[in-house]
Amino acid sequence: MSAEQMKPEGRPEIFDFQGISMVNYFTDNWENVQNFHARPDDILIATYPKAGTTWVSYILDLLYFGKDMPERQTTLPIYERVPFLEFAVPVMHTGTELAEKLSTCPRLIKTHLPVQLIPKALWEQNCKVVYVARNAKDNAVSYFHFDRMNKVQPEPGDWNSYIEKFMEGKTVFGPWYDHVTGWWEKKQNYSNIHYMFYEDLIEDTGRELERLCSFLGLSTTAEERECIRGGTQFDAMKANPMANYSTIPVMDFKISPFMRKGKVGDWRNHFTVSQNEEFDEHYKQKMKNSTLVFRTQI
Ligand code: A3P
Repeated sequence: MSAEQMKPEGRPEIFDFQGISMVNYFTDNWENVQNFHARPDDILIATYPKAGTTWVSYILDLLYFGKDMPERQTTLPIYERVPFLEFAVPVMHTGTELAEKLSTCPRLIKTHLPVQLIPKALWEQNCKVVYVARNAKDNAVSYFHFDRMNKVQPEPGDWNSYIEKFMEGKTVFGPWYDHVTGWWEKKQNYSNIHYMFYEDLIEDTGRELERLCSFLGLSTTAEERECIRGGTQFDAMKANPMANYSTIPVMDFKISPFMRKGKVGDWRNHFTVSQNEEFDEHYKQKMKNSTLVFRTQI
């Protein structure tokens, strides 16, 4: 299907959905999302958008299926291997349809939902969750460029207005602050959550892979982990059409590629000095009641 065939009717508008900012492309299939039939071995990859979802999805896919299903690596794009639970864009399969069609075990399922909106069956089945968080400033920058190029996201406006919207929680999936802290709090009483940081993955992918395998109960050799580490480095994924979203019809890579920079600290190229000061002050207030600590001096 080409972008022409798909023709989403302009950019979607943001509206309030159960207390968070959303667009119809993630709420139109809500009944099926809420009634999702989870299986005990389902693995949920949960993130605020642009925190490294695709990277971790690809790592998990290789860990489970890289050895035994080599053809999967050249024929199936990541968004079909790891369905996006709440996705409901016209003409494409919904996330729940794709998940139901999956014949692999375990099923890897991606979501950007804040913790309070997760379908209850996933908790009832005690599914494992891999949560990935990214520092707020880089997350905001990455989201800004994504909103510029992705037709199913609202128009971002210019950077100055965008960063205000981000701070107010008026970006799709709601406030970054509540998302990262909400999932962090959940981890305190639901032990099946592995909470990861994008910055740690960048710093030492091998170490993070080992921790991930230990959480998942997977025994892998150092050689296998090294192979996955190499295959999922930024340049490899950027060049891989099964990982880089070049086959999806709603993104305009002429505006910005999906695999954009893959760096820690790119916020320094976007924030003005006064924006940074204002952001830091606001951040302190928003995060003051949480025990979650990010490395902010990056
Ligand atoms: P940038 O826009 O800062 O480059 P998500 O998958 O959650 O949408 O996140 C996308 C962000 O993760 C983008 O950030 C993208 O470049 C980065 N990313 C994707 N794969 C990566 C990898 N293998 N290594 C480092 N960063 C990666």
